[in-house]
Amino acid sequence: MAAKGFFISKAVGVVGIILGAGAVATIIVLSVAYSQEKSKNVEVNPTTTTTTGVPVTTPALNEPWHQYRLPDSILPDSYEVTLWPRLTENSVGLYIFTGDSEVTFRCVKETDLILIHSNKLNLTVNGNSKLATLTAEDGSMPPAITDTWLEVRTQYLVVKLNGNLKVGQRYVLRTDFTGELADDLGGFYRSVYMEDGVEKVVATTQMQPTDARKAFPCFDEPAMKAIFNITLIHPRGTVGLSNGMDIETVNVTIDKMEVTRTKFAPTPKMSTYLLAFIVSDYDYIQAMEGDVSIRIFARRKAIAAGQGEYALNVTGPILKFFETYYNATYPLKKSDQIALPDFNAGAMENWGLITYRETALLYDPDVSSNGNKERIATIIAHELAHMWFGNLVTLKWWNDLWLNEGFASYVEYLGADYAEPAWGVKDLIVLGDVHRVFAVDALASSHPLSSKEEEIQRPEQISELFDAISYSKGASVLRMLSNFLSEDVFVIGLSTYLNQFAFSNTVYTDLWNHLQAAAEKTGTKLPATVHDIMNRWVLQMGFPVVSIDTATGTVTQQHFLLDPDSVVDRPSEFNYTWYVPITWQKNSVKGADFWLLEKSDLNNDLKTTSADQWVLANLNVAGYYRVKYDDANYARLQNQLTMAHELIPVINRAQLIDDAFNLARAKLVPTTLPLEMTKYLNNEREYMPWESALDNLDFFYLMFDRTEIYGLLQTYIMKQVEPLFNHYKDITADWTKVPERHTDQYNQVNALRMACSTGIEACTDLVTKWYGSWMNNTQNNPIHPNLRSVVYCSAIAAGGVKEWDHGWKMFKEATIAIEQDKLRAALACASQPWLLNRYLEYTLKPDMIQYLEYTLKPDMIRKQDATSTIVYIANNVVGQPLAWDFMRANWVYIFNEYGGGSFSFSNLINGVTKRFSTEFELKQLQQFKQDYADVGFGSGTLAVEQSIERTQANIKWVAENKVIVETWLKSAISP
Ligand code: BES
Ligand code: ZN
Repeated sequence: MAAKGFFISKAVGVVGIILGAGAVATIIVLSVAYSQEKSKNVEVNPTTTTTTGVPVTTPALNEPWHQYRLPDSILPDSYEVTLWPRLTENSVGLYIFTGDSEVTFRCVKETDLILIHSNKLNLTVNGNSKLATLTAEDGSMPPAITDTWLEVRTQYLVVKLNGNLKVGQRYVLRTDFTGELADDLGGFYRSVYMEDGVEKVVATTQMQPTDARKAFPCFDEPAMKAIFNITLIHPRGTVGLSNGMDIETVNVTIDKMEVTRTKFAPTPKMSTYLLAFIVSDYDYIQAMEGDVSIRIFARRKAIAAGQGEYALNVTGPILKFFETYYNATYPLKKSDQIALPDFNAGAMENWGLITYRETALLYDPDVSSNGNKERIATIIAHELAHMWFGNLVTLKWWNDLWLNEGFASYVEYLGADYAEPAWGVKDLIVLGDVHRVFAVDALASSHPLSSKEEEIQRPEQISELFDAISYSKGASVLRMLSNFLSEDVFVIGLSTYLNQFAFSNTVYTDLWNHLQAAAEKTGTKLPATVHDIMNRWVLQMGFPVVSIDTATGTVTQQHFLLDPDSVVDRPSEFNYTWYVPITWQKNSVKGADFWLLEKSDLNNDLKTTSADQWVLANLNVAGYYRVKYDDANYARLQNQLTMAHELIPVINRAQLIDDAFNLARAKLVPTTLPLEMTKYLNNEREYMPWESALDNLDFFYLMFDRTEIYGLLQTYIMKQVEPLFNHYKDITADWTKVPERHTDQYNQVNALRMACSTGIEACTDLVTKWYGSWMNNTQNNPIHPNLRSVVYCSAIAAGGVKEWDHGWKMFKEATIAIEQDKLRAALACASQPWLLNRYLEYTLKPDMIQYLEYTLKPDMIRKQDATSTIVYIANNVVGQPLAWDFMRANWVYIFNEYGGGSFSFSNLINGVTKRFSTEFELKQLQQFKQDYADVGFGSGTLAVEQSIERTQANIKWVAENKVIVETWLKSAISP
């Protein structure tokens, strides 16, 4: 909407917003809101002409209320907010909330204007027919309000005064308002579930990044920290929760309604995006960690079934870990965590009241896999990490979001590792973040971690920052920084940073300054300041590939581009060179670390002297870069892999494979090099190298699974995976035991997945038997939780409508979201187009379809799950064209329902188009971009560009490699 705000008439704009809200009923609330919008502030179409055909000059949009950023004339101190969500529909079929708010603010620069954020709220007109009331805190007469209105595009309540506010004086602005408690997953919204045949409504919030203004008028920028005094009015018997501890709960009668009023302790000084208010019929379990009360809230049935126990067990230790790591005590008295049936992201770090998707918090050993368990531990660690980094100390503006999310995404592994030391999760960051983001950061359409403050203005621009670069590149470069400084030095700087800026705001260089001071204090040697080293990683996009020539000892770096023909039109003040920390070993002997500071350098130690000596660099992939070797060194590494691969550390085995595949994509090594490397996999049992290989081979599948090469590829992979399949059959005593190690449990899934998908009969027989026995006795699911995803998928792929319908029925009847998620993904594995098309229909417009029996919600697919379900279907070679057609056909609806959201939207576009590799598909994609240019792509705008670039690269890759791959596969499979 706002993206094209300058070019729309009011009528079109209102229709667009109403469609966006998605419910016809919304019109009733909204039309009131819009009537408060003064016509003088409606944006004028710049091309408007008069009846005489003479163009009219457009009024300049340079009043303060046309700007997205708040002026710096007034600052909030505290708020008194009362909110009353109604958990039943009103007479016109709407769920609403009412509320009032008093904000005390200080005038710091003379002004006769108050701008405060307010979006989609219907403000009550007071006695003076104004939308707000102003008083001075000291009882004196404040300037009179001359005019008030809602500025829709920039989401302000505008209050004009007849005189200036006095610098240093405090004022109170009061508003009364009504809003819709919609099912739109943003601001104050409703989530619905079924319990014992009764539909239950939870009123809950998701404020980040810019939706607090949808719950009450507020200065909705992260630097506008204030103290919040929250009161909730809620039905008797329900629980009211907010950031602070409840300090008073009384039964009262308001408007003849018997309700409960819960007041919460004043919050510390904090940002609006971290607020949370929840009213529910939930139950909880509790434990103490020192003086901190830890509670897990969920649906009564989930709590009764013990699904909150695991979260409760790990939260205490993880909190304690972070207190030690940050050397700072947990800043609050309580830590509540709550599982919600409808939730857009995975979890949200509201201070003291963290919200989660059910799958990210609730655990049941009889249903959840080890992967589900790992996700719960890491996501809890991630959000708890924010309690200090992000909440106590907050970045001043969203352009620095990468530091907040990148930091939490790094230390989540440390927190989870403390809670579950046996898992070895710290290594998995290489697969989960480094490899994930290498793939997008190697594109010419990538972007630097850091954006300029002025570049990030509109809400969609803020939403777009929640991407793989911010999360995974942020995590990767911070991990590198912690490694080259050493963790001891890193935490010293971190701790002084948190202490100095507690309850206030920073920019990312403040952290560099503290780390620099820590480095100096501890006498840590660096080739340049932390600032100068890190600038190169933060201010320029991409990363280097470091080439090592073991014949000469030369080391060079160059910007790694997945498509060597792509044009980088983004200039870099550092000319795409980095300060690269190099670690290495020669066979089993570790070499001395050094820095590559120039484009090229010489290190004689890297020269090899004998035929079985190999050099391996970037140990544990601590550095955010790829490594390329000379041919002779590759031959020696290859030989080592074949003879005794264990002598190469496991993370680096995974890395050799990932680097080789990607260097080949970039034409820096021949495509046959990575393929040769996969030959040793028939002896590999470890998860990380396998996962890395399968991730990369997935690209070969995407490019070739609709071509004649598919058969050859299948034969080769089957041959490689068969020993792994047999290995697991052995160590699990014919699939009756669970492998001991966490990563072995993961690799068992890989073994089954690949064995079944390449058609190893023992595998298909096994999964069909398990699934069949479950179909015959639905009360008794014989499939181990770890294996359910793969078994469901393989059995549904091998089966027909009977298998599919059983899966769907189990999906609807499941009492835990984690089981639903497994089935939801597996249902996309069907081989029949009609089943997949029917499934696609289920993802949207749920209320238009007759539903079956249900347990958790009367909808077919929850809104939070719609985009990921479409992507699951697109991952299936049969579903791919169906999903693409479906997405295009329903674009306007999809955009309006999901376009504002966070990652899910770009995931949708990237996911549905990732197989594209023909000129025809490229044309379709470009046509799509053109067709919907006026509707827009919201937070998926960048994803459209990435998809076009990726498709172009794929076309070239297939043209250049098809024959090579075919020839290589033929020779590899002939004995
Ligand atoms: N602050 C985010 C949640 C969020 C994401 C809010 C996007 C608004 C838009 C939270 O800390 C987060 O990062 N959650 C992640 C989980 C994490 C383990 C990567 C998520 O939701 O997936
Ligand atoms: Zn986060």
